[in-house]
Amino acid sequence: MNLTQTQHIPVMLEEVMQLLQPHAGGQYIDATLGGGGHTSAILARSAPTGKVLGVDTDVQALARVKERLSYYVSEGRLLLTHGNFSDLSQIVEQAGLTSVQGILLDLGFSSDQMDTPERGFAFSTDGPLDMRLNQSLATTAADLVNEADEAELADIFWKYGEERRSRQIARRIVNQRAKGAITRTKQLADLVAAGVPYKPGAIHPATRVFQALRIAVNQELERLEAVLPQILEILSKKRADGGRREEAGRMAIIAFHSLEDRIVKEFMRREATDCLCPPHVPVCVCGHKARLRLLTPKPRMPGAQEIERNPRARSARLRAAEVVVE
Ligand SMILES: C[S@@+](CC[C@H](N)C(=O)[O-])C[C@H]1O[C@@H](n2cnc3c(N)ncnc32)[C@H](O)[C@@H]1O
Repeated sequence: MNLTQTQHIPVMLEEVMQLLQPHAGGQYIDATLGGGGHTSAILARSAPTGKVLGVDTDVQALARVKERLSYYVSEGRLLLTHGNFSDLSQIVEQAGLTSVQGILLDLGFSSDQMDTPERGFAFSTDGPLDMRLNQSLATTAADLVNEADEAELADIFWKYGEERRSRQIARRIVNQRAKGAITRTKQLADLVAAGVPYKPGAIHPATRVFQALRIAVNQELERLEAVLPQILEILSKKRADGGRREEAGRMAIIAFHSLEDRIVKEFMRREATDCLCPPHVPVCVCGHKARLRLLTPKPRMPGAQEIERNPRARSARLRAAEVVVE
């Protein structure tokens, strides 16, 4: 693939722009830069002075965007950082952003990663069983598949893939690897799918196992849980002079499976609620005050036209909230 080209089509782009409302002079963070699709729209709409800090854990994604959006980089409007969004507060401080208006998380992996067989995310093409978003991580999917014990594997498939055949698949893997290591995506996909009826158009029998391994390798749920309170803090930060913010900071988060969507939903609901005391407590003793206002009480989903144009958008769930300005 050409390094400067991206195959990734940004998901729910218009909806994200409506929710984040980028404008001149604003500071924004795209913590899942990917192919830079959302970032370039934010930069275009916040011209001539809006800034974006783009973060990705994948050095290849950063290199591609650096080339593709070099104009904005040279203008000083696009700052790029290699890092994990679970360290967002530190990354923002190092980048010197002082008053951030909007933060986007578009979770998971990009088409650029999916369509590069050597990255090992796809079961439709053969590649090494890798699945690391950050290629300097120590553990690959192959390491887990060949080294984790049977119960641990079953647990991963159940917890992160909601795979009903988790134990049976774990047993099959353990039997197979006793004969030789499982190192390729196709090898694993065929092993998982063997004997399972598969109708074209239905989800492939290996889908959940691949999702589960990717989540485990990249610690995706833990990273998401770690970043949410940091996003709230960054968006709530007072101006450098201690003054009140004129504008409520906004977060927009796109999730692609129910496990991550649940984490986002519960975080936003909790932070949008005044009192968290159990219902039988007559007078509030917790003192919790809502810090968020939900902009999407129900998640937004892509329309039929978008799904037709970009089938990978079909499972997207977009939620957004703004910080309550005191
Ligand atoms: C769905 S893609 C984003 C696509 C992007 N919005 C666009 O329009 O081109 C997700 C990106 O987030 C990155 N990513 C996933 N988890 C991350 C994390 N914990 N920290 C930083 N980047 C992460 C992936 O490497 C991938 O490039």
